[in-house]
Amino acid sequence: MNLFDVYSLFDVTPVKALGCKVWDSNGQEYLDLYGGHAVISVGHSHPDYVAALKDQLDKIGFYSNSVVNPLQQELAKRLGEASGYGDYSLFLDNSGAESNENAAKLASFHTGKDRIIAFRKSFHGRTSGAVALTDNPAIVSPFNSHHKVSFCDLNDAAGVEEILKGGDVAGVIIEGIQGCGGINVPDNGFMQELSALCKRYGACLILDEVQSGYGRTGRFFAHQWNGIRPDIITMGKGIANGFPCGGILISPEFKAVKGMLGTTFGGNYLAMAAALSVLDIMEREHLTENALKVGEHLKNSIPQSPRIKEVRGRGLMLGIEMNEEVAPLRKALLFDKHIFTGVSGKNMVRLLAPLCLSIEEADRFIEALKELL
Ligand SMILES: Cc1ncc(COP(=O)(O)O)c(C=O)c1O
Repeated sequence: MNLFDVYSLFDVTPVKALGCKVWDSNGQEYLDLYGGHAVISVGHSHPDYVAALKDQLDKIGFYSNSVVNPLQQELAKRLGEASGYGDYSLFLDNSGAESNENAAKLASFHTGKDRIIAFRKSFHGRTSGAVALTDNPAIVSPFNSHHKVSFCDLNDAAGVEEILKGGDVAGVIIEGIQGCGGINVPDNGFMQELSALCKRYGACLILDEVQSGYGRTGRFFAHQWNGIRPDIITMGKGIANGFPCGGILISPEFKAVKGMLGTTFGGNYLAMAAALSVLDIMEREHLTENALKVGEHLKNSIPQSPRIKEVRGRGLMLGIEMNEEVAPLRKALLFDKHIFTGVSGKNMVRLLAPLCLSIEEADRFIEALKELL
């Protein structure tokens, strides 16, 4: 049997990793500024994280959500403290898309309405509702295209209000910082206006923090730079440093009804051990603060070049927009300088390093970039 061939692959086979370093099957070392697509938060194979997972596996690996799982309760408590959302409740699932799916569903249950407003250049995942909320017709199948979704331009509050006036909007979903769409940071004033508009028209504000959350921008969630409190916050990626896990934070205004949401694997023991270990390490090693410090250093050190159009982002969620296609540059970074980077569209190098990146590692990238420009 062959693999269903949907991914464009680099010819590299990682077999070992530690911190921000990855080694391939030939023993070649790489610097990882991509974090497996913003997933590696506390660093690859952190010894405490590895020990926590091994220890949990020795005790119990899985049971269903029909029994009491104290690890879920502990995560809810710790996450509430770490994020400043202790009065919210936590629903656990398995991925970013599933989190957005649950958020949209919850907004619809809560309001009794069925339209969601999303933004141009958004990415919210690949499951049915999440992909319908994603502004990329190439990945929306006819089956997914019947959801009631209206797209507005980022920062266009008047456009959002026009649709809200229709009276059928359950929620508005927005990324803390748009990732796949090109590291687009929403204006502070726009985020505050959006929050006020949602309250005025009785729509739920859903913040997709799957990529921008969990310390990546130097705050626990990116929207905390804007001083707003959404109704639902969605999480994934960095929450368990590579163990599949997702979740949503739900404001106290929502009433839980037995059976309204559910999942087989969400909140399982191994995911909880991984997620608790991530919070431990983030706190002990001050990784949110590190993401801000090293991210600012990185952003300020990107060399001036006529080939670079703009550098955008916050903390360790950065985009280098070029005046040309970046595929050759990324290839040279990977195969000549042995540095993993990400991409947005055709013209942007996207940096999503583990939150433990050091100044020295950031400088290694800067030197490599200077040599290639
Ligand atoms: C902002 C955002 N939301 C949702 C998702 C989907 O997450 P997952 O691939 O875990 O379903 C992603 C993935 O890249 C993302 O960047």
